[in-house]
Amino acid sequence: MPEIRVDAVSHAFGDGATRRQVLRDVDLTLVEDRIGVVGGNGSGKSTFVRLLNGLIHPDEGRVTVDGLDTVRDGREVRRRVGFCFTDPDAQIVMPTVAEDIAFGLRRRGLSTAEREERTRAALTAYGLENHADHPAHLLSGGQKQLLALASVLVTDPDVLVLDEPTTLLDLRNAAMVRRLVDGLRQQVILVTHHLDLLDGFDRVLVFDDGRVVHDGAPAEAVAAYRDLAMR
Ligand SMILES: Nc1ncnc2c1ncn2[C@@H]1O[C@H](COP(=O)(O)OP(=O)(O)O)[C@@H](O)[C@H]1O
Ligand SMILES: [Mg+2]
Repeated sequence: MPEIRVDAVSHAFGDGATRRQVLRDVDLTLVEDRIGVVGGNGSGKSTFVRLLNGLIHPDEGRVTVDGLDTVRDGREVRRRVGFCFTDPDAQIVMPTVAEDIAFGLRRRGLSTAEREERTRAALTAYGLENHADHPAHLLSGGQKQLLALASVLVTDPDVLVLDEPTTLLDLRNAAMVRRLVDGLRQQVILVTHHLDLLDGFDRVLVFDDGRVVHDGAPAEAVAAYRDLAMR
């Protein structure tokens, strides 16, 4: 598994009166296969996971992925760490399903034939083979989330970060995403409010007000999060 080091990281947004400290001295080494992230709204979860592929640069401290610094080596880090947003519309960039998947493969030094082959394989793997030429934005919510995942996974990252990937989905589609994620070879870092998704995870981090307040096995972490929420 890749090794992600989050080294004494603090982060704030805004200046002066609007300044808000969002992460406070977060210090972690992530090497497990399946890592969950839970916590209340605004506790810093999205900020934390965005640091992991350099979408956000830390104000203080540093983040490395297999020794690559997210600030200095951003491009290489982003090749290793795929990111999937809650809202797939934020991530779908091309008009058709097949074009959107192929887009992730640009600038990889692949021939047209190789790109087409990998795109075709991804369409099949994610059950989108009958939608290749459909307008991406006309897919159902569940299909859009599958497309967003396919477009990230076709690039074969080592780590997949998912920020609330099932929040907008109904139960059936959420279960489909869960099955898909279960089968991945990648290290997975999953932010979710769907706590049942964390069954069988190796490690769950609980965030509160920018700090990791619990770090352990899913059952204990979920209990700690419930306690916090009921306070
Ligand atoms: N780009 C930004 N600019 C200013 N404030 C932000 C930005 N992103 C997040 N925040 C603020 O940081 C806090 C933590 O946000 P976030 O990491 O998205 O929390 P979570 O994902 O746990 O809900 C929130 O108060 C949010 O409003
Ligand atoms: Mg969030």
